[in-house]
Amino acid sequence: MTVLPEHAEELIRGRRAVRSFRPDAVPGETLQAIFSLAGAAPSNSNTQPWSVEVVSGATRDRLSESLLAAHAEQRFSVDFPYQDELYSAVHRERRSAFGSALYGALDIARDDHEARDAFQAESLRFYGAPHVALLLTPSNADARMVADVGMYGQTLLLAMAAHGVASCPQGLLGFYGDVVRDCLGIRDRKVLFGVSFGYAQDSAPVNQIEVGRADLGETTRFHG
Ligand SMILES: Cc1cc2nc3c(=O)[nH]c(=O)nc-3n(C[C@H](O)[C@H](O)[C@H](O)COP(=O)(O)O)c2cc1C
Repeated sequence: MTVLPEHAEELIRGRRAVRSFRPDAVPGETLQAIFSLAGAAPSNSNTQPWSVEVVSGATRDRLSESLLAAHAEQRFSVDFPYQDELYSAVHRERRSAFGSALYGALDIARDDHEARDAFQAESLRFYGAPHVALLLTPSNADARMVADVGMYGQTLLLAMAAHGVASCPQGLLGFYGDVVRDCLGIRDRKVLFGVSFGYAQDSAPVNQIEVGRADLGETTRFHG
């Protein structure tokens, strides 16, 4: 099979995290096509250890309300703990550059904690997206299984982009594992991250941010 490289460039480089959505729902047949395509992701020994909950309509609204209530009470249940100390100096620099681009577009100052908190709350409204997909792992997932779910995640984002559907992966949603499980009737399984998705609000300043990438030589060595 030959896929023209420029199409791959357009798809991969054209995808970006969108943080303001229009309310219109994605048609059911497009949802079927996207999630069916995402399932073509590779995994260790083809185990496909992901499971996906696609949430829309009244359930989406209920989930958002429960997340906001947990956020207000600082009631976290972090399935995959965040360990800030694992990030090296260069990772921190990249994170900081991203934060400046994001909060700059939103006109929020570095020390304006109230405005930053309000923006985080907005993210628990899925940035206005009509749908959110929760990506779950088995409850005993190791790094190998988590890597497989990550492969699924990027395949899903690209499948959405190919169908003109905008998305934002949100690790923050995994900070409220109990809320997600309670709301969706899940007994076991852990929440790795969520993906808010729908159609982009193209004019929103937050959707204009440019976040670059490290130069090739910073991440990749060629041997032989
Ligand atoms: C696993 C994962 C978790 C993320 N979590 C969040 C999040 O909680 N909130 C958010 O606004 N963006 C989140 N992002 C989006 C990243 O900030 C974004 O992908 C990164 O800055 C690169 O920008 P781009 O996706 O537009 O290329 C996440 C991305 C990934 C892959």
